[in-house]
Amino acid sequence: MADGSTGRPGGQLELKMDRPHIARVYDYYLGGKTNYEADRYAGDQVLAAWPGARTAARTNRIFMHRAARTLARELGLDQFLDIGTGIPTEPNLHQIVQGENPRARVVYVDNDPLVLAHARALMNSTPEGRTAYVHADFTEPDSVLLAPELTRTLDAGRPVALSVLALLHFVLDEDGAYGLVRRFVEALPSGSALVLTHGTSEFAPEAMGRAGRVYTDCVARAQTRSREEFARFFDGLELVDPGIEVPHRWRPDRQTGACIGGARDVADAEVGLWAGLAVKP
Ligand SMILES: C[S@@+](CC[C@H](N)C(=O)[O-])C[C@H]1O[C@@H](n2cnc3c(N)ncnc32)[C@H](O)[C@@H]1O
Repeated sequence: MADGSTGRPGGQLELKMDRPHIARVYDYYLGGKTNYEADRYAGDQVLAAWPGARTAARTNRIFMHRAARTLARELGLDQFLDIGTGIPTEPNLHQIVQGENPRARVVYVDNDPLVLAHARALMNSTPEGRTAYVHADFTEPDSVLLAPELTRTLDAGRPVALSVLALLHFVLDEDGAYGLVRRFVEALPSGSALVLTHGTSEFAPEAMGRAGRVYTDCVARAQTRSREEFARFFDGLELVDPGIEVPHRWRPDRQTGACIGGARDVADAEVGLWAGLAVKP
């Protein structure tokens, strides 16, 4: 069943349409319609600095599809916690994993009011499975882990696949990014999995540097991380094949393709992301 629940602090929706938001700028890159003039303006500035942003967003999304299938099909996981979900974009995570296992349960989390406003699209669960939405902040783990929508949807005693995709570059070292990931992983039982994607400037230092400054000035503070710095998020976990990789070469398949639309190869500098999936021993 679809739980239909939404945790909403204070019950107020403040969309702040005059200011760009991470989720809406990302929706703009993806060609979505859930964005406003301020988001498109900021997105265009990022694209002027680093034209790869659209390719990166789509590649990231397609990586999510492959990682979700790996988690459900190969690792047999049937409980999912997706933090920094984004504005619904079909197929969403639950549609992929419930396609593998209709009984799968998915809890989505985001701190953006507009994602909350569109959360209904994340609630179209299979009858056998369940989905829920929590309006909460990654930097406050208890607001996620103790949310009633989560505790009544996921069985804390069984493994959970935690996905945090394209979010951690908005959590700076000084905000305790590594400790926050550790806190979430520690809360999950053995056999759980962690899947991450993260912006890196290693392939296009100048362009990504400019794009990062646009983000920090106009959208949200941002910090790219190197492969080594990204790998540290997986400390104590067992990376599955192929380990840390750019998302377009992480288990590419014919269906989704290593390249977008199957039309051409994607350059690492256009994608500017690292990806990885690991299991908790
Ligand atoms: C770039 S989008 C990525 C969306 C989706 N995970 C994907 O990979 O397609 C980042 C999302 O993280 C959310 N986000 C950013 N900081 C967050 C925080 N501290 N807590 C919860 N969500 C956050 C934004 O609102 C946005 O929806």
